[in-house]
Amino acid sequence: MLTLSEVLPLFEGKKSLLAEHLGISRQAVSRWNTDAPIPEKHELKLRHQIIGWDENTPIEKSNSKLTGNIHSSSKLNNVNYEIRGPVLEEAYRLEEEGHRITKLNIGNPGAFGFHAPEEIIQDVIYNLSSAEGYCESRGLFSARKAVMQECQLRGIPNVGINDIYMGNGVSELIFMSLQALLENGDEILIPAPDYPLWTASTVLAGGRAVHYLCDEHQDWEPDLEDLESKITNRTRGIVVINPNNPTGAVYSKETLKRIAVLAEKYNLIVFADEIYDKVLYDGAVHTPFATITGECLVISFGGLSKNYRLAGFRSGWLVVSGAKEKAKDYLEGINILASMRLCANVPGQLAVQTALGGYQSIKDLVLPSGRLKQQRDVAWQALNDIPGVSCVKPKGALYLFPKLDPKIYLIDDDEKFVFDLLKSKQLLLVQGTAFNWPTPDHLRIVFLQQHEELQLSIDKLGHFLKKYRP
Ligand SMILES: Cc1ncc(COP(=O)(O)O)c(C=O)c1O
Repeated sequence: MLTLSEVLPLFEGKKSLLAEHLGISRQAVSRWNTDAPIPEKHELKLRHQIIGWDENTPIEKSNSKLTGNIHSSSKLNNVNYEIRGPVLEEAYRLEEEGHRITKLNIGNPGAFGFHAPEEIIQDVIYNLSSAEGYCESRGLFSARKAVMQECQLRGIPNVGINDIYMGNGVSELIFMSLQALLENGDEILIPAPDYPLWTASTVLAGGRAVHYLCDEHQDWEPDLEDLESKITNRTRGIVVINPNNPTGAVYSKETLKRIAVLAEKYNLIVFADEIYDKVLYDGAVHTPFATITGECLVISFGGLSKNYRLAGFRSGWLVVSGAKEKAKDYLEGINILASMRLCANVPGQLAVQTALGGYQSIKDLVLPSGRLKQQRDVAWQALNDIPGVSCVKPKGALYLFPKLDPKIYLIDDDEKFVFDLLKSKQLLLVQGTAFNWPTPDHLRIVFLQQHEELQLSIDKLGHFLKKYRP
């Protein structure tokens, strides 16, 4: 049985086109109840005319047969990645009209004059001609060796060269690690707020993203009772983003141990996204998850994008540690996917050995006198100075996730809010719900702008917010 609401999208939502197609009057179609089955003879005609449209073909697919329109796969139906969504489209449109947009929406250090160490660039240039061919699908030996040695230095036991996979950024490896694991309906526990690629990749792999809450009143540490209450017999893994995007939290060792206890108890994989592990303020210490437990499987992620300001190189790595014996089949799956994409970008991998060895220039940026730390302070203070805005001070990463007091700011659609902010102030931020935060009362701000400009941007936000106070 088909309903009018199912059929109408095939006709651009227009009853007149449907009526014309069926050879009946528009009024006749208008009399049909939207959710009631349409009369059988018309249903048969529609089904008959749309070649290949049987009970099992999704309606959107059948649409292509009828209209010739080309549709994306229904696998993408529930995949959201709003950081690069309609608001960004509007920003591009405004730029085309000649407006200058301040983009505090993505953590792209290079765009704000944070340069990679010159030594890395020179080494890549020097070796570039050796990067013409594919390399081993897991990655260049020299790059993996450097990651392996980093694991040794950081106290992660039992990591061999073949436990390391290089990827086109952590992004590709997140995607691969979930594609290789999930059956339809399997669940992954992901923090809320999240880095939305985790949620999108889980859904695209056929899984269900189940969000556990992080607690703003506890420096955004995960709420472990909430996390445990959401474990079911379909749960396969827990994602831990530490240091966290978007909250800037750096988790205590105690919290990580308690997550490890849960992972061991319920036989779950821990996906430890540690791409910001060197972007730490005020003496915060990052503990690699893989040093906490050897009892469960830990898949850790790191890369060049943030610590080394080389996001455009698209170079990241995945490290397998812990209970590898139990996971041979899964790891074989990752191997297959790594081989299918042949290898990661080789020039990007040339940077890894030099980056990880020697002086870590990120340290200068996070010192009290460092540019990143100073910008964090300016942005944090400026946000907290706005009435009704409160923000937990980030201990790591590049973002602030302020709360707009819902008693003061009557915002029921935060995407519309950032859209209107963009149009009114040419300032691009991302709404909290894009990070799978359940209520429309947060924003994410990247603090990569120079501090005078950052102050101006946040003043603009404060000015715009006045409109929303009762
Ligand atoms: C938490 C987190 N994980 C992964 C990534 C993706 O990093 P890459 O540039 O290595 O793909 C980002 C990028 O912003 C991130 O914030």
